[in-house]
Amino acid sequence: MNTEIFKITDQNRKTAEAQKAIEKAGKILQNGGLAAFPTETVYGLGGDALNPESSRKIYAAKGRPSDNPLIVHICRWEDLSPIVKKIPETAKRLAEVFWPGPLTMILEKSDKVPKETTGGLSTVAVRMPDDETALSLIRAAGGYVAAPSANLSGRPSPTLAKYVQEDLGGRIEMILDGGQACIGLESTIVDLTEEVPVILRPGYITREMLSKVLGEVEVDRAILPEGSDAAPKAPGMKYRHYAPKAELTIIAGEEEAVVNRINELVREAEKRGLRSGVIATERTAARYSADSVKNAGNRDKEETAAKELYRILREFDGEEVDLIYSEAFTENGIGQAVMNRLLKAAGHRMEEVSSDGE
Ligand code: TXA
Ligand code: MG
Repeated sequence: MNTEIFKITDQNRKTAEAQKAIEKAGKILQNGGLAAFPTETVYGLGGDALNPESSRKIYAAKGRPSDNPLIVHICRWEDLSPIVKKIPETAKRLAEVFWPGPLTMILEKSDKVPKETTGGLSTVAVRMPDDETALSLIRAAGGYVAAPSANLSGRPSPTLAKYVQEDLGGRIEMILDGGQACIGLESTIVDLTEEVPVILRPGYITREMLSKVLGEVEVDRAILPEGSDAAPKAPGMKYRHYAPKAELTIIAGEEEAVVNRINELVREAEKRGLRSGVIATERTAARYSADSVKNAGNRDKEETAAKELYRILREFDGEEVDLIYSEAFTENGIGQAVMNRLLKAAGHRMEEVSSDGE
């Protein structure tokens, strides 16, 4: 299958050509085919959410286990009620504040949503993305687009169209290229089917932001560092996602001590004849002597690390490094989501260093 790629920018968005490309992608989905599209979080691999055959195709294209449910993307609030049993007050309040945006809500599904889309569950995940191309495509496709991240299962989610092409080129009919995803990590998932809302996956929308709207909000124990052996409620969180080919270790502590420890580990790797990579930040990047050093942005602005993390992990996969050492990031704001993804990629390997070098 030939995968057509069409670039949509703010400059050409209003042109007849761009509109035609979005209409075409919409038709592909309506006819049961697959097309990838940009969102503000990561690229999505879209299919018609109400067509069980489309969902089966999505699982096949990604190589994803079919018990791992898909997120249904909508473009208008009115389109929510047909696909859920009822709309709880909590969903209304959250949508008012955060939709369109990087928040996915878990609700009881109606019969309209096939079990194939929800991986056999009686609940459905719904999100309204904050991206013009995504919203236009959803409209053109008939209103309901099932879309997991547009990567092969087990690879980092794509933040650029070229990574979608790398993973899914030849397997899907079209890719809408909207440039770099502005957030870079997947949406926050909140389960609203329990008495107290529960965060199943951390993202740009933090627990504090949700609590301001809802009051008490819990976090699924399985996504907390101490609960790494508990069974997560979002089926997808149990898989070892985001895993780079090289062995990744996170080094946490004061900046100076972290730089020294990483350089020591890099020298040890070199002695063993191994190639090493470092995930550094603006202030520290020049101080490392590894084979490959990547700059994840400003240490005090966690959103820069969120935006660059998956690109960096993919680049390392292409560079044949054996070991990767990453500085730890703070847990402020989206930093929590950054550390959640980084810890998963590292298989929870993290070393704490103290300032006196111990
Ligand atoms: O930002 C995002 O959410 C991106 C973009 C494309 O919208 N999508 C995305 O989809 O990350 P995916 O399929 O890669 O991740 C969906 C996660 C999985 O961990 C899945 O298990 C969970 O959502 N999920 C979906 N439906 C669920 C449900 N009914 N109950 C619990 N977890 C659910
Ligand atoms: Mg994914």
